[in-house]
Amino acid sequence: MILQLLESQNISKDHYLLKFQFDGSKEIPQPGQFIEIKVNQLTDPLLRRPISIFNYEDNKLEIIIQKVGKATDILCSSKYDSLDIIGPFGKGFTIAQNEKVLLIGGGVGNAPLYYLAKTLKNSNCNITYIYGSRSSQYVYLLEEYQALCNEFYITTDDGSIGQKGFTTDILKEIFKNDYSAIYTCGPLSMMKTIHEITKNANLEVSLENYFGCGIGICSGCTIETINGLKRACVDGPIFNASELVWESLI
Ligand SMILES: Cc1cc2nc3c(=O)[nH]c(=O)nc-3n(C[C@H](O)[C@H](O)[C@H](O)COP(=O)(O)OP(=O)(O)OC[C@H]3O[C@@H](n4cnc5c(N)ncnc54)[C@H](O)[C@@H]3O)c2cc1C
Ligand code: FES
Repeated sequence: MILQLLESQNISKDHYLLKFQFDGSKEIPQPGQFIEIKVNQLTDPLLRRPISIFNYEDNKLEIIIQKVGKATDILCSSKYDSLDIIGPFGKGFTIAQNEKVLLIGGGVGNAPLYYLAKTLKNSNCNITYIYGSRSSQYVYLLEEYQALCNEFYITTDDGSIGQKGFTTDILKEIFKNDYSAIYTCGPLSMMKTIHEITKNANLEVSLENYFGCGIGICSGCTIETINGLKRACVDGPIFNASELVWESLI
């Protein structure tokens, strides 16, 4: 479907917030799901690119793009007024109700956790959030995240804002195993460390590995789980951490 671009905003270094008109009457996008975007009608870039849903409300769909290569550069350029998008696809996060929950995001991995936090707040959850970034210049929409949370921590690798270090340093300090659900998205090494620290906790991770088709056909996104091989695009991207064979992912 062709979606009309309503707004494109530079929110931090190399990060853009894009807002589209989206008719959610047939299917409301769920936190953790993604869309597949064809950035132009040319053969380069050939494949659609998977991008998480940052927010959905009142028939408006928002995504956050980190500029890392050709497709994301085009997306951030604002030189278009509509885009060819399919989705939403994939299995989203399990939404806890009236529970104490913890969310941990690293870099652009914070993007899908915003819509998740908003949905959890509407489900009366008590939310602790650990927001990690390389440095203050890459941090985006901090006040919007903080407004949804009961407790909020921020870390940067260089200490330019918040505590110097990693999200997992804060986690080690605050973790008491009293969260009914923990949700994370970000670098694999971060998510693996979170799994090691939280051990048998109910941890859901969003796997943003390489996708080919994004719709279950090519097997390009196959990962190893304790229940056999799975395709991250249709069986995920959200998986319970206890299900994953972590050594095969890293
Ligand atoms: C389920 C899912 C959700 C995603 N959500 C978002 C999102 O909300 N916002 C966002 O900005 N990006 C997101 N991504 C990543 C995004 O799809 C890639 O950054 C994008 O496809 C890169 O395209 P490109 O042509 O700009 O860069 P390419 O030229 O394809 O790659 C540029 C560089 O980025 C690296 N790269 C490309 N894809 C990935 C990846 N999946 N993981 C790690 N490194 C990669 C390449 O190795 C290369 O070094 C998501 C990916 C998945 C699978
Ligand atoms: S990306 Fe093709 S099957 Fe998942």
